[in-house]
Amino acid sequence: MTETYRPRRSVLYVPASNDKALSKITSLACDAVIIDLEDAVAPADKVSAREKLAGIFASRPGRRCEMAVRINPLSSEWGADDLLAAARCEPDAILLPKVDTPRDVLEAGDVLDDNLSPDEVKLWAMIETPKALLNIGPIAELGRDPASRLVCFVAGTNDLVKETGILATPDRRYLTPWLMQMVLAARAGGLDLLDGVFNDFRDLEAFARECGEAAAMGFDGKSLIHPAQIDAANRAFAPSAEAVAEARSVKEAFALAENAGRQVIALNGKMVERLHLAQAEKLLAKAATIGA
Ligand code: COA
Ligand code: MG
Repeated sequence: MTETYRPRRSVLYVPASNDKALSKITSLACDAVIIDLEDAVAPADKVSAREKLAGIFASRPGRRCEMAVRINPLSSEWGADDLLAAARCEPDAILLPKVDTPRDVLEAGDVLDDNLSPDEVKLWAMIETPKALLNIGPIAELGRDPASRLVCFVAGTNDLVKETGILATPDRRYLTPWLMQMVLAARAGGLDLLDGVFNDFRDLEAFARECGEAAAMGFDGKSLIHPAQIDAANRAFAPSAEAVAEARSVKEAFALAENAGRQVIALNGKMVERLHLAQAEKLLAKAATIGA
């Protein structure tokens, strides 16, 4: 989670080539959308999809919902032009696919700097290649330098399955160690972190279960492929009513005159430390922002 909480519980991919899906954006309750030029767009449509960006951003609905653009890899024939076209739209973020090394992020940042893109245009990085996982510490470290613009990781689970040959199981048992590595790296770098997509978009029960697990693992939100997935993601990544009630009681306990200056107190038979107070305040601020 970044310093001031910006909800990214539900982040919907919308293919730039799909007019019907694009027309839905303003009416959706997701925290962010990613206009996709990459995997959701066929090679024959790549150029026409890119040409639509300006129009999509011209009719953008205020700043409630963050808008990112996923470009093609800079190493592909489309990447460089995608990056320039996306930069001209001044989106909240440009999502870089197939990032392997810190250099991949720095190069994109240099292009934005050279084109005088405002500092508010951030970079998000897909973590979806074996190399990205091997280099994840140094990539995440870029988050400590605001000049890098890097603020968020997005797990690319479909690509990771494809690139590594692991079996994709419903419980994600082979993916989980890598997902936890992403959590650790994102926290070390002060980055937000979004879980990968859930492909079976008709199975909302299994989707909600996966969201709950991702929230427990420490993810800030989930990348989505279908509007039907938004509600469950918004619920799963918001603090629960019980968590809010508990945070309030921790805050109230430390506010008592008798506990002023105390580092550790007992509350309902449990030890509570000042670090729990900090945690509680963070959770309450998050709940207030979301309106939970
Ligand atoms: N964003 C916005 N609207 C979407 C949407 C999306 N990602 N996916 C579906 N919709 C809309 C449809 O246009 C449809 O609108 P309608 O009611 O006016 O007809 C409505 O939601 C219901 O869609 P549905 O018929 O259930 O699904 P579909 O068969 O049209 O599409 C997918 C299914 C998977 C092809 C589509 O959801 C999609 O393209 N998702 C994004 C895929 C993507 O970006 N992948 C790359 C990242 S992994
Ligand atoms: Mg991918």
